[in-house]
Amino acid sequence: MKRISILGSTGSIGASTLDIVSRFPERFEVVGLAAGGNIDLLKQQVKRFRPKYVSVSEESAALSLKGLGCKVMHGIEGAIIVATAPEADMVGSAIVGAAGLVPTVAAIKAKKEIALANKETLVMAGELVMKEASDAGVKILPVDSEHSAIFQSIVGHNRNEINRLILTASGGPFLNYPVEKLAEVTPAGALNHPNWQMGKKITVDSASLMNKGLEVIEARWLFDIPTERIDVHIHPQSIIHSMVEYIDGSVIAQMGVPDMRIPIAYALSYPERLPIPLPPLNLLEIEKLTFMKPDHERFPCLNLAYEALKAGGTMTAVLNAANEIAVDAFLNDRIKFPGIPSLIEEVISSHKNGPASHVDDILRADLWARGKAKELIERGNS
Ligand SMILES: NC(=O)c1ccc[n+]([C@@H]2O[C@H](COP(=O)([O-])OP(=O)(O)OC[C@H]3O[C@@H](n4cnc5c(N)ncnc54)[C@H](OP(=O)(O)O)[C@@H]3O)[C@@H](O)[C@H]2O)c1
Repeated sequence: MKRISILGSTGSIGASTLDIVSRFPERFEVVGLAAGGNIDLLKQQVKRFRPKYVSVSEESAALSLKGLGCKVMHGIEGAIIVATAPEADMVGSAIVGAAGLVPTVAAIKAKKEIALANKETLVMAGELVMKEASDAGVKILPVDSEHSAIFQSIVGHNRNEINRLILTASGGPFLNYPVEKLAEVTPAGALNHPNWQMGKKITVDSASLMNKGLEVIEARWLFDIPTERIDVHIHPQSIIHSMVEYIDGSVIAQMGVPDMRIPIAYALSYPERLPIPLPPLNLLEIEKLTFMKPDHERFPCLNLAYEALKAGGTMTAVLNAANEIAVDAFLNDRIKFPGIPSLIEEVISSHKNGPASHVDDILRADLWARGKAKELIERGNS
């Protein structure tokens, strides 16, 4: 029996994680749930999974959960208590954005195994987080489908023999849009992902290719591979989830239907595999798997992420924060879609980079970048 706390239980990954948990009651038990403001769904989850600890963002929302037989908390402190619950063996880290960092680090320090969906944790603080995990002797198991694919393609192989990681990207809904049409795209258009059902932020990130940039940074730290040996291929069918090229020229890829329950289940049950009732991958029906280079002129976010990663220090935290503000502004019709990369570029180019030796350095840089991005939006710069 593995006992699990889930951070971000009401989100797309959180709900899929609970779906896997519910299918294998003899294997998994829920100890804690942390969410933001979707109290109706959280209440249903509490009634069904009977966690001991529950946390929400706001105190007022916490009050409405009283009487359900669990300890109810709120705010970052509440999420930390859920993440470090003494009964938990594993923490599913699936809060969206920078809010996931501190509770995930707390879970690592408390020696919890981590099923990591919150890529922003490694984007902001990859070097530091991997060191914390190594010091604590904690496994970080990837949930992101690309990183799960790489992880599955590495298991049983010698890491010193890896030549290159190849992350695949669907290309998002605007893959074939001409550059001049990108200024006209709407939030609804950006949220209409061709292959995956996901939360709003990651769906917009997929449309701008920033998601792939964030994943390059995530892969850099998770697999300890130098940036110049991480490539991106556009693969619109989203069947090959990523690949590893070895020094002898062999390339090992992981394939599957695009359903996040596959990588979630693998992270939860590693090294075992669980029988998940999904339609099998039918390559005869799909017929063609195609690949192309990313177009950096139309989708500058990917290169911005590579640049931030090469700069190191607090730059990737600044990139992440500027992106979060830009995506939010785009979703609220305050900036146009091409304004996302231009806003991020402006914020990172005015950042005085410094070492990311402590979580506080990273949180300070994050706060600065949010302020700067908001100021630029107010001035109408994007
Ligand atoms: N969705 C995917 O297929 C996918 C694939 C790979 C990686 N990921 C990564 O997984 C993470 C989650 O993505 P998602 O698509 O599941 O996002 P989502 O559907 O938007 O869900 C986000 C979750 O985070 C919670 N949350 C937000 N702010 C919070 C805070 N301050 N404190 C506590 N909880 C908070 C939300 O709570 P409320 O809804 O209750 O407000 C919700 O449960 C992201 O880092 C994303 O990049 C997602």
